[in-house]
Amino acid sequence: MELLEAIKTRRTVRNLKSDPISDKQIETILEAIRWTPSWTNAQPWEVIVVKNQAIKERLNETLPRGNPAHKAMLKAPVVLVLCGIKGKSGYYRGEASTDKGDWYMFDVGAATYGASLAAHDLGLGSVIVGLFDAPKAEEILGVPEDRAVVVMLPIGVPEKIPSAPKRKELYEFVFETTYGK
Ligand SMILES: Cc1cc2nc3c(=O)[nH]c(=O)nc-3n(C[C@H](O)[C@H](O)[C@H](O)COP(=O)(O)O)c2cc1C
Repeated sequence: MELLEAIKTRRTVRNLKSDPISDKQIETILEAIRWTPSWTNAQPWEVIVVKNQAIKERLNETLPRGNPAHKAMLKAPVVLVLCGIKGKSGYYRGEASTDKGDWYMFDVGAATYGASLAAHDLGLGSVIVGLFDAPKAEEILGVPEDRAVVVMLPIGVPEKIPSAPKRKELYEFVFETTYGK
């Protein structure tokens, strides 16, 4: 698929089939994460591949009731859990290099987007899940203190692909030369 077309046609797919996806497909998605750019190439991510239904059910319980991703969490044949490694990205000799502090959220965000695009390129659907009780998920998965679960990404064969939510027009967020102009 052509890149810009992939960027524009990728959707959050919350209606997924429970059909299995292959290890080769999962590996392709993990490769996309592997090649994500990161702060000084810190690569501050780790990924837990969850196929176990009982664990998926426990992870699903960390989502608040109003989160529309419940069905995807339960039906997807695989849920990738993307963890950030704290204190690596945006630091030089233990000191934060910028006013932004730890950049792992940025790097893991980029990795997540790459994974969702790679899934789309394979004809698969995914939904980035950010609204959940992360400390609870960390406990379920045995994630150590110096790591943080950032997002969960259920992936599967799409059952229904929604239409695109409206985007801002360029003039609404692009300025010329200085802010607001
Ligand atoms: C950081 C992040 C967190 C998100 N968390 C959730 C979530 O918890 N539950 C959910 O159903 N969708 C979640 N989404 C999906 C967004 O709602 C979706 O990307 C947005 O509505 C735009 O739709 P599109 O992805 O189809 O373009 C999240 C997306 C991002 C980037």
